[in-house]
Amino acid sequence: MNDFIIKGNIVDSECPDRLRVVENGSIVVTDGLCRGVFRALPEQFAGLPVQDFADRLVIPGMSDLHIHASQYAFRGLGMDMELLDWLNTYTFPEEAKYLDRGYAERAYGGFVEALRRSPTTRAAIFATIHPEASLLLMEKLEASGLRSFVGKVNMDRNCPDSVREPDAETACRETEAWILEARDRFTRTEPILTPRFVPTCSDGLMEGLGRLRKRYDLPVQSHLSENGGEIAWVKELSPASRFYGDAYARFGLFGGDHRCIMAHCVLSEDEELALIEKNGVFIAHSPESNMNLSSGVAPVSRYLKLGLKVGLATDVAGGSHESMFKAVQHAIQASKLRWRLLDESVKALSFAQAFWLATAGGGAFFGKVGRFGEGYDFDALVLDDASLFHPQPLDVRSRLERMIYLADDRNIIAKYVAGNRLF
Ligand code: GUN
Ligand code: FE
Repeated sequence: MNDFIIKGNIVDSECPDRLRVVENGSIVVTDGLCRGVFRALPEQFAGLPVQDFADRLVIPGMSDLHIHASQYAFRGLGMDMELLDWLNTYTFPEEAKYLDRGYAERAYGGFVEALRRSPTTRAAIFATIHPEASLLLMEKLEASGLRSFVGKVNMDRNCPDSVREPDAETACRETEAWILEARDRFTRTEPILTPRFVPTCSDGLMEGLGRLRKRYDLPVQSHLSENGGEIAWVKELSPASRFYGDAYARFGLFGGDHRCIMAHCVLSEDEELALIEKNGVFIAHSPESNMNLSSGVAPVSRYLKLGLKVGLATDVAGGSHESMFKAVQHAIQASKLRWRLLDESVKALSFAQAFWLATAGGGAFFGKVGRFGEGYDFDALVLDDASLFHPQPLDVRSRLERMIYLADDRNIIAKYVAGNRLF
């Protein structure tokens, strides 16, 4: 039985606009699920073992809705380029290396260890086109204790031969074999269909992936309306689509009857947003990547106001760092510049909103995840700010805000995923 009590200064989100702070509180966990947050522990739980973190902060684990495991090795390079040049110059040559099992072993080993130590407890991850390396990544993630969706990437046009699947039929056959093996071998690590983006996927490939999606009832992840150059290219390649998202929707790859994440949505127009809302598509807001690749800043407060499903993402290696703390910081900073320079009708994000995006907002993709509400999976981080000097006592909310800006992995002293302690 995985039943216990965690004590500490507890912070989670009451709603997108408001934090809940319980100083010196207790979280009761039974069977890996939260039973409640208490100021005073009810008598009925008095016999459970206690892990007392004293003055430390206990917050929900964070969900990274979009990250490329296969790009971790070259993070921090090519950050002076725009999206399409960056893909051709850095990304595709790097991803070609994953044909080599030895390279995949080393590179994915480093990625998974970094993610295990980071604020992330759940993630939606891109691998490469290579089935063997994708399974290797899943094996390492499974062993880490994290929960994730992993996509073997599909692409069969407009890219170098070294990262191009030979044709739609071969791509779908290999993808199907990968799905079956992954389902057989892993429980915490699930396959997700991953057409890279419209420019690199032929209609035949999209059709085949639509069939696989239905046959195996799979979720979908991809990129959408990220960058001006990309959007113009999609218009040329897919003239029959009314808007970019329609080029996925035509093939049954845009939510509705399945879970779906679309990364970026920096430049989505009203018709696209209406379908995102109708189909319950999750938007993975990736502020650092959108700055680095000169894509812009998504109007994320507007998306929140519209009631869309939104979470945060690092998008490594468009984003240079795997820390979701940094993603929270970048989301706030980018929203302030957007508000000041571009459109004062779309408010900047508050700290509470950005924290909600990183926890409950993205967590919803994975189920009841990202808060300490009753029945939620117990995913948590225990944070120690003793190393972050301040000359006087601070309240818990201020301590959390400082940690998001100043802390790194060394300040995370314990991490739980679905009730299991990873360290
Ligand atoms: N669009 C297609 N592929 C990619 C990628 O690897 N990163 C980003 N940021 N956008 C993409
Ligand atoms: Fe991406």
